[in-house]
Amino acid sequence: MIAHHPASVQPVDLDLAQVRARMERYAPQVAELVRRYPVRRAILLQVLHLVQQEFGWVPRVAIRWAAEVSGVSPVHAFSVVEFYTMYRQVPMGRHLIQVCHTMCCHIQGSEQLIAHLERRLGIRCGETTADGLFSLVRVECLALCGTGPGVMIDDQAIGPTPHPLGGELREEHLAVPNFHPTPAVLDAWIDFLREQAARAPHPGRHHEHDALGGLIIGSAGHPGAEGASAQPLPADYAPACPAFKVAARRDGEQAVITWVNDPLLTVRCTVERSQDRGASWQPVAEVGGKEQRACVAQPAGVAAAYRIIAHEKTRSARPSAVVEVPG
Ligand code: FES
Repeated sequence: MIAHHPASVQPVDLDLAQVRARMERYAPQVAELVRRYPVRRAILLQVLHLVQQEFGWVPRVAIRWAAEVSGVSPVHAFSVVEFYTMYRQVPMGRHLIQVCHTMCCHIQGSEQLIAHLERRLGIRCGETTADGLFSLVRVECLALCGTGPGVMIDDQAIGPTPHPLGGELREEHLAVPNFHPTPAVLDAWIDFLREQAARAPHPGRHHEHDALGGLIIGSAGHPGAEGASAQPLPADYAPACPAFKVAARRDGEQAVITWVNDPLLTVRCTVERSQDRGASWQPVAEVGGKEQRACVAQPAGVAAAYRIIAHEKTRSARPSAVVEVPG
């Protein structure tokens, strides 16, 4: 269990020899980084990510090791760690909650969200809950300005998309007006992650993940956290459907299907119909990603079920919720 750590105290006493021994298994990755970058010092950011992958945070003495490997001075490496908030300088909890407090999010209410989270978790920003489950940090722009205040939990931007792994979120988590995070949504996330932790209290050592640029997602914590299961996406991974609030009604000899979509994430949608209680599905309409409505012929007296399949350029999401139109 991780104790309640204030923002600036490094609790673990490591020496350089111990760090070298633990980082020895990353020699192939370091060699690949050296091969990949024309200037050796350019590997520093990635080497620091390897440190964070191994320890779950970046101990001071490991900064010295990273500097040595990258051919820069220790003070240069230290200044890099100080500059980028994605490098953690104290152990983090299993789930990392980041809230943007930059101007755009400040005027959209990030301070109120932070105050709410501090009250709810019983910690201040920069601290970890006593059960080791949550760390809360303030960060600069998360590139979520348009749907601010920007909040990320682990690898997941809170708002437009559901959690990618670790079980589907329930519908109420997704019911976000205009996709802006609210205290109620964050509470739902905290409850959800607490329930998940109660089901799997000891997730074990985190899986390997690709620090050389592979896509990573976290299901049981942020990458690098003890117990996190960040891992490369399998080739056949299908994201959860971005079409929410699917509804359908009869209009004479037609069925009208509506949904709320995230047009930024979707290139086109297929409306599928089943007339045998979901045993088989046939496409009945194809619409663009910005459209959120389709009308299809459905004769009186014939019942049918509908669902939406959203497509991006190269892959398709899992099916949406199913809605029924009686005969
Ligand atoms: S200013 Fe907050 S996410 Fe960009």
